[in-house]
Amino acid sequence: MTTSTAVDFRKLDEILQNYGYQKSNLIAILQKVQEVYKYLPEDAMTYIGNKIEGLSPATVFGVATFYAQFSLDPKGKYEIKCCDGTACHVRGSMPVLNAVRQKLGLKEGQTTTADGMFSLETVSCLGACGLAPVVMINEKVYPQMTSDAISIALNEIIEKENANGNN
Ligand code: FES
Repeated sequence: MTTSTAVDFRKLDEILQNYGYQKSNLIAILQKVQEVYKYLPEDAMTYIGNKIEGLSPATVFGVATFYAQFSLDPKGKYEIKCCDGTACHVRGSMPVLNAVRQKLGLKEGQTTTADGMFSLETVSCLGACGLAPVVMINEKVYPQMTSDAISIALNEIIEKENANGNN
């Protein structure tokens, strides 16, 4: 389901150079790449694996998939974080999550909409348990969500985007 992003290899070389092409700096290098693209494009990981001595693309993939901080899928313009921590779960986060999936037409295992507008992830706590169930869309917190409330919130975003001529 991953849509690939065109990778700027000169930019990658710049990052690699700043970290001395050192194997020991791999995590920092991947963090930088993720800062640029908001995820780790496959081409970038392959390039890094071939450029750093003692590494291979497979090793870089292995590291990237091991650490939860790295995303292998592109993020949407709107990054939705549905909390499924204990407090949110007991207060009904699953129906909210399902409503988001349904609204955006995300199939099982798909995290980003085909148009790149929305991406969805579940998180284990957003630090606002008193407002459970909580959803965050980019920097905005949506408290005490229900499936209806999140659908309305998403509709507002979609309408705004349509009005801007996107989508
Ligand atoms: S468990 Fe959801 S905000 Fe803490």
